[in-house]
This record gives sequence, structure tokens and C-alpha cells, in this order.
Amino acid sequence: MIRRIAVLTAGGDCPGLNAVIRAVVKTAINKYGMTVLGIKDGYRGLVENDTIELTNESVRGILPQGGTILGSSNKENPLKYLVNKQTFEYRDMSDVAIRNMREHGVEAMVIIGGDGTLASAQAFQDKGMPTVGVPKTIDNDLVGTDTTFGFNTAVTVATEAIDRLRTTANAHKRVMVVEVMGRDAGWIALNAGVAGGASIILIPEIPYDLDKVCEKLEQRKKDGYRETIIVVAEGAKPINGEVVVARIVEDSHEKIRLGGIANKLADDIEKKTGFETRATILGHVQRGGSPTVYDRVLGTRYGEMAVELIAEEKFGYMVSLKGTYISHVPLSEVVGHSRKVYTHNSLVKAAKGIGICFGD
Ligand code: F6P
Repeated sequence: MIRRIAVLTAGGDCPGLNAVIRAVVKTAINKYGMTVLGIKDGYRGLVENDTIELTNESVRGILPQGGTILGSSNKENPLKYLVNKQTFEYRDMSDVAIRNMREHGVEAMVIIGGDGTLASAQAFQDKGMPTVGVPKTIDNDLVGTDTTFGFNTAVTVATEAIDRLRTTANAHKRVMVVEVMGRDAGWIALNAGVAGGASIILIPEIPYDLDKVCEKLEQRKKDGYRETIIVVAEGAKPINGEVVVARIVEDSHEKIRLGGIANKLADDIEKKTGFETRATILGHVQRGGSPTVYDRVLGTRYGEMAVELIAEEKFGYMVSLKGTYISHVPLSEVVGHSRKVYTHNSLVKAAKGIGICFGD
């Protein structure tokens, strides 16, 4: 019987992390009489043994809070850990991390994260530290689950922004290009674009033809529309073109940060059509602040299920949403894959059906 567990949040933060932590702590302590160790700042705390004891008191009032009470980081990888910042020397510190946990009496871990984080979770499981994963990312690009928590909030924030941008675009007869996050997946753009009434949605999975985009804009002008909203995913690119890279983060295990396609697209459109065009890059506002009701509920269900799996000694799984049920899938089926918007996706079909242009 498992008596003591640890929980950590790693990777980019995501609305709903606190809902998961709270559900893990409450289920573990109140239902199973376990104790819970919190790991600070993701894998950094695991390797450097920076921890905090979590109690019912620690999680009181955190459900509506954004961020994570434990801190997170998308830089550290315990399997390739930066041990010397001057010489960029990396070492596998997973054995150190496991030793730290054993010294705390931890018998199983709940690891909340996206693909990179869950790859390390799988490694811990393989090395004999029982682990359960929870799918977290605003990008919604994990396989094995219908949706990740945090995605709904990101789409909601982006949709609210689009609603606001529409009124100013209308007042000035402008084209508004709104750039949303999502890395190489177009889920946020697709959903926020449809929900916000965009006329053009550009996603990484469907490289766009600028001529097609401009034709749509010309048509809208002829039809008497004052404004046009274009939602573009940060990973979108023109046919035969490249993605726009915002920065390289050298000490991160995933070095490329996308961003800036909206500026390029707005320039290209103005040059080609003469239409006054403005770009807005929503950025981290999509990840900040209070989670939606949906993400609070989903995060709670995921957290509770993670502890149920541990109590049943079912390790090496990720909790997942399947239809209306919370289920679980082997971590090995999740790690190393990413879920894209396929061109036959039913929402793409519906969007095209109502006349939304994807630039193809
Ligand atoms: O994966 C979540 C995400 O917000 C992506 O949508 C985005 O590309 C990236 O993280 C931004 O990373 P950072 O927080 O390092 O700027």
C-alpha cells in the first residue's frame, strides 16, 4: 500500500495546474491517508532536492488561481541536466532525482506536464520510480487524451481578445491579424478562430497561399464587410516558406520559441492589397490568470484519477479524457508523439463549410 507520494508541475505553466495539485492532495490525504511532498519548480526541485510538504491547508483557495503553487520550468530535463552554466556541461541526473525521492520516503510520483515532461516521467517509471502522468498543455497536442487541461482557458482568452479586436477593426475598416500560441499544432487557432468568427484561419498543418488569403480579403470588401479577422497560429507558414522564430533558448531542452508570423503576414497583406492591417500577438496572456470552469473541472478529475491509479498500484500511465469518462493510457503510447489538426478534422470541415478560408 502506497503511503507517500510526490507531485510536480513541469514545462510551461498552464491554467488548471492548481486544480490538479489540489485534487491530488485532497484525494491522497483525505481518501487514502497518504502524505504528499510537493516538488518546487519542476525537475529543478527534483534534482536539487527543493521540496515542500503539502497539506489540506496548502491547497486551500487555490482552485481559481492561475500559475502553479509549486512553480514550473520548461528548461530542465533531468536526463540532460545543465550542471555547469559556463561550460554548458549536461549530465543525466535522474538517479540523483530518484535517490532524493527515496530519501524523502516517496513511493510514487504524480508528474503533471506535456510531452517533454512526460518523456522524463516514463524514464523514471522505467528506472523503478512508480509514476503517473497528467496531460497538461494549452496547445492540446498530446495523444492519448481527447483534450489536455489548460486548452479551454487559452481558447477562451483568445476568443475574448478576438471579440475586442473586432470592434476596433470595424471602427477603422481594418484587417486584424491575431496570432495565437500552439507550437506546431493549430488547435488554439482553429477553435478560437471559429468561436471568434474569424474569416481566415491559418494553422501549421495547412501551409497557406498568400494569394488565397488576399482573394478572401478582396471578396469581403466587395461584399461590404468593414473588418476582417485573421487568426494565425504561431507555427503557421506560407507554402514553401518557413516558420517565424522569435528566439532561441539555448539552455532549454526545446530550444526554438515561435512567434512573429502575424507581423510578417500583416506586412505582406498591406503590400499586396493596400488594406490597412494591424497585427496582435497574444502571447503568454493565453496562459495566465484564472482557469475556466471546464479546466477547473477537468483538472480536478485528472488529479483525483492520478491518485486512484496510484492507490490501485497502476503505474506508468497517463490519465486521459475519453468522451465523458476519465481513463488512462500507457505513457509509452503518449511519449514522442504529437497530435495535429488533420486536414480531414471535422471542425476544419465545418469551418470550411461556413466559408472560413484556410489559405489553401
Ligand atoms: O507549450 C506551451 C507554450 O505556451 C507554446 O504554445 C509556446 O510556443 C511556448 O509554450 C512558449 O514558451 P515560453 O513560455 O518558453 O516562452
